[in-house]
Amino acid sequence: MPTHKHAQTQYPVADFIKHRWSPRAFTPQPIADEALRTLFEAAAWAPSAMNEQPWQFIYAHREQAETFERLWNCLLPGNQPWAKNAAVLVVVLARKFMSANQAPNRHYLHDTGMATANLLLQAGTMGIHGHVMGGFDLSKTQQDLHLPAELEPATFLALGYAGEAEQLEEPFRTRELAPRSRKPLSEFVFENQLPD
Ligand SMILES: Cc1cc2nc3c(=O)[nH]c(=O)nc-3n(C[C@H](O)[C@H](O)[C@H](O)COP(=O)(O)O)c2cc1C
Repeated sequence: MPTHKHAQTQYPVADFIKHRWSPRAFTPQPIADEALRTLFEAAAWAPSAMNEQPWQFIYAHREQAETFERLWNCLLPGNQPWAKNAAVLVVVLARKFMSANQAPNRHYLHDTGMATANLLLQAGTMGIHGHVMGGFDLSKTQQDLHLPAELEPATFLALGYAGEAEQLEEPFRTRELAPRSRKPLSEFVFENQLPD
């Protein structure tokens, strides 16, 4: 049985939120391209400032070994050992400027994160898990992937079907089995109360 780490919530939330979590162990099962199209379609329907849709995704299946390895090489050592087993690696890019007038888009990373969240939540409903990675070498990514300056790598994603914690080496195995936790709402929600 693959590990499940459903959220233990203070208040009831929808199952597709409860069931999303970030595994490091993946089965060898590939993700069908048709399913991936659905994930990117879900990303496309995220809201964005002025409907700019500043996100772009470049991905490779593990079988597309040359591109997969070029993406994988951009990850930091803390992510490489487990991310090599993902079915798909994605680099998530965010365009810094508005296409209409080339003015800076103050919301480019925010909106790209919204699209990523849509993708992950859609994935969960299809039995696919994703793990966001901010641990990558920014300048190497820009250089090795020949990215234009206006496209900023926001994150990488490892996508796949969740595997068994036992297949991971330490310290990842222990992390895979560790309980998930969140701050209580009292620490980040404030009703009728502004800072002094
Ligand atoms: C922007 C961002 C960067 C992250 N970077 C990494 C990373 O480099 N390596 C990693 O193992 N997890 C990374 N994570 C995953 C978080 O650690 C994880 O989402 C968080 O601990 C909550 O766990 P959950 O997603 O299972 O609820 C990142 C998540 C986000 C949103």
